[in-house]
Amino acid sequence: MCWEAGLSTEAGNSVDPRSNGLFGVYVHWPFCAAKCPYCDFNSHVHRGPFDEAGFVAAYAAELVHFAQKVPGRTVQSIFFGGGTPSLMDPRSVGAILEAIGRHWTIDARVEITLEANPTSVEADRFRGYRAAGVNRVSLGVQSLREGPLAELGRRHTVDEAVAAVRLAQSIFPRTSFDLIYARPRQTLDDWQDELTEALWMAQGHLSLYQLTIEMGTRYYDLFRAGKLQMPGEDLSADFYELTQELTQNAGLPAYEISNHARPGQESRHNLIYWRYGEYVGVGPGAHGRLLINNQRHATAAEKLPFDWQRKVLARGHGMVTDDVLTWEEEGDEMLVMGLRLREGIDPRRFQRISGRAISERQIAELKAIGFLETLPNGFLRVTDKGWPVLDAVVADLAA
Ligand SMILES: C[S@@+](CC[C@H](N)C(=O)[O-])C[C@H]1O[C@@H](n2cnc3c(N)ncnc32)[C@H](O)[C@@H]1O
Ligand code: SF4
Repeated sequence: MCWEAGLSTEAGNSVDPRSNGLFGVYVHWPFCAAKCPYCDFNSHVHRGPFDEAGFVAAYAAELVHFAQKVPGRTVQSIFFGGGTPSLMDPRSVGAILEAIGRHWTIDARVEITLEANPTSVEADRFRGYRAAGVNRVSLGVQSLREGPLAELGRRHTVDEAVAAVRLAQSIFPRTSFDLIYARPRQTLDDWQDELTEALWMAQGHLSLYQLTIEMGTRYYDLFRAGKLQMPGEDLSADFYELTQELTQNAGLPAYEISNHARPGQESRHNLIYWRYGEYVGVGPGAHGRLLINNQRHATAAEKLPFDWQRKVLARGHGMVTDDVLTWEEEGDEMLVMGLRLREGIDPRRFQRISGRAISERQIAELKAIGFLETLPNGFLRVTDKGWPVLDAVVADLAA
């Protein structure tokens, strides 16, 4: 039986309710030219000599390790994330893709995405990635206004970002770009103008993130010192609503809380996470979810780039965490991930994975206040009214 629509019917992987027939590889490239003040991703600024080929050899070695753990899969998606993967030599991207192809079957329709920062975009490098097999690029534009770009610590101008998007669109079959909104002092009118421009530029996909203040960042210190005026709850909700309305009208509705696409242009890679499939994570700080002997392993790697490399050289992998999740934990993860999606989750699959049913009483209560609905295919999804309080809805259902 097919448990979910779409990717679950793909050729290659058997449709086990635990993986949903989904398998992808995430490759984390941890280096950036500079650290942005809002960002808490595992990114590091490295100065001095760097043996890129030697570093790439560690990815190949780590892939050998994971291929032994989860052999025989068909790879539907590969994602180079960061950090700034667009700092990579295209030959490094090619070498990692070749290594992945040596261990697993590659689906004929594989999606291969690379995250790019407009600062590091050059035409030759983009052509090199395309020649290596990359077929989708996601650009970190962040803003189409000069002042906010500078405040976000970005090292590119609006013109450079627009040129990078245009170049990507001329080289890659699929592109996306990211914007950060609900920024300090931004008004709804400002955002309406900026997003309207973005929607003219966009092809099939846009990621629109509300600025979040992450602990350990420079923005966190500024916020605590009262130097960053963030929008309050009501204004944030208005920003969110406006974003839904404009993207919907432009034909790129939200398919996930922060991601918008023309139908069919959704990120297949991120859908693997949200549809709670199986994925290998290689590189410093990468996370994975592996299905071994019908148990889901949650893996995480050493974050510091050169410590990770040393660990891989010494023992074949850089993992510092490899936990077997209980059925209950799996069920909770499936809810957290799946309820972010417009398509919702299949409660029958939840029951098969977690060994328990979602409480009918909780479902009824959430429906009564208009936060949850059941679709004709039996899936449960959070309503427009429930999305702004998604975390609370998930917590109620998981209880
Ligand atoms: C890992 S970053 C990679 C992109 C690439 N390094 C760049 O900056 O162009 C992925 C995206 O997360 C988003 N992001 C990072 N930190 C954020 C924050 N604190 N609030 C909202 N969005 C954030 C940004 O839009 C960014 O493009
Ligand atoms: S936002 Fe991108 S470029 Fe800036 S520090 Fe984070 S990963 Fe690096």
